[in-house]
Amino acid sequence: MTMATMKLPLKMYILILLGVSVMLYQYSLSSVIAFNGAPLDGADVLYRGTQNESMGHEAIKSGARRLDVAMALPVTTTAESKLPMLYIITPTYTRPEQVAELTRLSHTLMLVPNLRWIVVEDATHKSPKVEAILAKSGLPYTHLIAPMPEEFKKKKKGPKPRGVSNRNKGLEWIRQNAKDGVLYFADDDNTYDLDIFEEMRHTRRVSMFPVGLITKLGVSSPVVRNGTFAGFYDGWIAGRKFPVDMAGFAVSVVFLHRRPNATMPYKPGYEEDGFLKSLRPFEPKEIELLADKCTKILVWHTQTKKNEPSQPVDTSKYNNTNILTLKTILV
Ligand code: UGA
Ligand code: MN
Repeated sequence: MTMATMKLPLKMYILILLGVSVMLYQYSLSSVIAFNGAPLDGADVLYRGTQNESMGHEAIKSGARRLDVAMALPVTTTAESKLPMLYIITPTYTRPEQVAELTRLSHTLMLVPNLRWIVVEDATHKSPKVEAILAKSGLPYTHLIAPMPEEFKKKKKGPKPRGVSNRNKGLEWIRQNAKDGVLYFADDDNTYDLDIFEEMRHTRRVSMFPVGLITKLGVSSPVVRNGTFAGFYDGWIAGRKFPVDMAGFAVSVVFLHRRPNATMPYKPGYEEDGFLKSLRPFEPKEIELLADKCTKILVWHTQTKKNEPSQPVDTSKYNNTNILTLKTILV
């Protein structure tokens, strides 16, 4: 018996059955989506961000919200949790661009497993704006302060040792709190390819890699000939033993522990060289050459245009408006 020869009630019965099954199928699909997208509470958040012992409830909620909207983000797998830990030391200071820079950097680091972000402010008090970015990231983090010593801060002429007190504070934290893993100085304004984090993770002593947008040469890098180290390519050699940028090297924490006196000098232009020399005994020929033997640029020394602090708002004109709220976000 074909459909055409069926009696009307039977035809209707089959059509209704078909319709109901289609509806049931769609419902089951939508409930799977709802389950995956449902906000998770603190107990069952799989996301790595919850590893942070200093995270409040709000942060857990925002971490969960982030997971909610971006299901594509990976969760920590067993294999990932066995990866060497990365300690990312970021110096930062209050200025109009700070929140934007740290927002962007946090979004990069959120995509990297097994990482602790050590953010050190050149300030006498922790900024609530910085704290909010750290908490919102859901990353494991450590928030510290280390103001530039007064003698350098009040200097009227010439360059200042930017980020040095911050980085030394981060090193001190690592010496006291980390056993192994790898440390990297990540300025708040650079641009990082995710691959660089996976490459540096296996550093045994000191690894190096090219940094783009440095000096007129456009790149700073170890020179590699026949697969081995053959010097440095950098637009400003200046008698340095290690003419490299801060973003161009990573150091093993075990190796750092074996160099208890290693520190960064307050010497503008010579911070990298001074720090790397303080890791002695360590010679350039021992450098581990990453980024496919230094043939790729996986970090860029981007610099943001400086902005003037925002002008005062006419509070009577904008009373009871959003503009007063917006003004509190600005520097
Ligand atoms: C270059 C290098 O890439 C830096 O790593 C190095 O510290 C700096 O030169 C230097 O030798 O002075 P550059 O882009 O010129 O970097 O410097 P900034 O990006 O302005 O500062 C480097 C880091 O220190 C940033 O993360 C910034 O937030 C922080 N900083 C800067 C402070 O903590 N305090 C300051 O007063 C200035
Ligand atoms: Mn910079």
